[in-house]
Amino acid sequence: MIVAAPGAFGGVRAPPHAIAHTTTGLNTKRVMVPWREFDARVTDVKLVSVARARQVSTPPCLHAPLAARTFNAIMSARFVTLLCCALTLGARDVPRAAPTLDNGLARTPPMGWNSWNHFHCDVSAQLIKETADALVATGMRDAGYRYVVIDDCWQVARDRTGRLVADSARFPGGIKPLADYVHSKGLKFGIYTDAGRRTCQGRPGTYGSEEIDARTFAEWGVDYVKEDWCNSEGLDAPTQYAKFRDALAKAGRPIVFSICEWGSNHPWEWGPRTGNLWRTTGDISDRWASMIAILDLSSQYALAARPGAWNDPDMLEVGNGGMTDDEYRAHFSLWAVMSAPLMAGNDVRAMPPATREILGNKDVIAVDQDSLGVQGMLVQEPGIDLQVWSKPLADGSRAVVLLNRSGLQTVIATSWRAIGLTGPARVRDLWAHSDLGAFTGRFSATVPAHGVVMVRITPVTGG
Ligand code: GLA
Repeated sequence: MIVAAPGAFGGVRAPPHAIAHTTTGLNTKRVMVPWREFDARVTDVKLVSVARARQVSTPPCLHAPLAARTFNAIMSARFVTLLCCALTLGARDVPRAAPTLDNGLARTPPMGWNSWNHFHCDVSAQLIKETADALVATGMRDAGYRYVVIDDCWQVARDRTGRLVADSARFPGGIKPLADYVHSKGLKFGIYTDAGRRTCQGRPGTYGSEEIDARTFAEWGVDYVKEDWCNSEGLDAPTQYAKFRDALAKAGRPIVFSICEWGSNHPWEWGPRTGNLWRTTGDISDRWASMIAILDLSSQYALAARPGAWNDPDMLEVGNGGMTDDEYRAHFSLWAVMSAPLMAGNDVRAMPPATREILGNKDVIAVDQDSLGVQGMLVQEPGIDLQVWSKPLADGSRAVVLLNRSGLQTVIATSWRAIGLTGPARVRDLWAHSDLGAFTGRFSATVPAHGVVMVRITPVTGG
């Protein structure tokens, strides 16, 4: 079932350069997945991993295009075909079981911090060092936030040999000692570049310098590169991003590759074989409408996500001041149920306790980082602006987000049928951190306006 989402792109701040994406965004549909298809996706994950483990090929039906699926075939085929059709129906325009970039990284969605959402161009070695210290002191590193990423504006030129040069006033000593400092804190170090001729803020881009930039980053000790798409007129995104992927592989250091072309060129189709994550939308802003619009857009491509390859609905705005704490709890819960990268985008040196509790919620982080690696989906819409999102987890339980998009507190219920469970199941409230007991058939809760209740529902075995 596909539900139209009026004005879904309205809240997303499209970069001025992302015209193609804006057009895509206007055609947004909200995708709701009947459990039958969602369940098939989980089966798909298992089938593919079993096939890989046994080194046999995946059933050909898993690769067949949507056009090959006719109604007659659905009606006449046996179980395997039915399964494949269900998979394909759920896949929309996302290729199933496509080959993935096999760099062994990001088996769960990357977690860390990125400078852009809060600091924009105001970056410096001092900020990065203080942020690394704060990630350790606040316990965020130990909660899983590992990658410290400098976004745009660190670079000013190329030297005579063609190597990128950092702004010497802001990064005295250059990037290498800074990466060393971050590593010394038990963290990993990330950097930003652009696949075009210049970055979005007009700094030198990587176009034509892929090999030297990949080598330079590897020498500096970079563990994560985000590659943007500004000033790329006339270039082909899959080709340019593949060039940098290959250059990174040649450079010989394991580096997470983050593709950032805002969903302009259907990255969910080629992203899995090119990078570890790919942005699906224009830039987030620190407003409820923007966050919700991104949810509606990014969730359409859920079936492309898998270990090592993730949809990226953009960095977190939690703690930046533009939303209420209920809204930030919703933002964080929805990113976790979508198996999104969790890149904090606030000033972690000065976090109020409420922000620290949201970003540090281990129950919610465990949902995001679950090893099954399936992206959750919208499974029920019990009323206007009321939704149930669900993500299957490796132990057979379901993470469930009851989302109230309306401005009034209300009760939202989910049924076991909608989330693919039967029998009694234990329910744990992931924000109250309390076990609510065993329920059978359904669970309901009062959900604040612009807020969520997030639970983990675990079937009671042998009962
Ligand atoms: C683009 C990206 C942002 C950020 C800025 C930096 O807009 O989408 O995430 O990296 O560029 O200029």
